[in-house]
Amino acid sequence: MPTVLLKGLIPNENDQSFELKEGQLLFDGLEQLGCTLPHGCLAGSCGSCRIEMIEGEENLTPPGAVESDTIASINQNYIGLNKKIRLSCRAKVRGNVTIKILK
Ligand code: FES
Repeated sequence: MPTVLLKGLIPNENDQSFELKEGQLLFDGLEQLGCTLPHGCLAGSCGSCRIEMIEGEENLTPPGAVESDTIASINQNYIGLNKKIRLSCRAKVRGNVTIKILK
């Protein structure tokens, strides 16, 4: 089963890891961990469930057209910071990933 490593939200906060079934949504895994992200649509269009990919981006299903458009819009807020953003309500795991929650 793929493992998700969730980096600490603040410096010195412990990282957490959890397993998901292959094909399961990151959003669902975070919710099971007790970390329900803000969500407005669960369809990839509002961007509120955004996460930052630290490692293993290739182990997620690729973003569809709606998610890609939303990510492009979100990226305008992070110009120059080189963040790899995905939407947890659309990204399904296929292998190990390391993520961080974006505020
Ligand atoms: S909840 Fe709207 S993009 Fe994920």
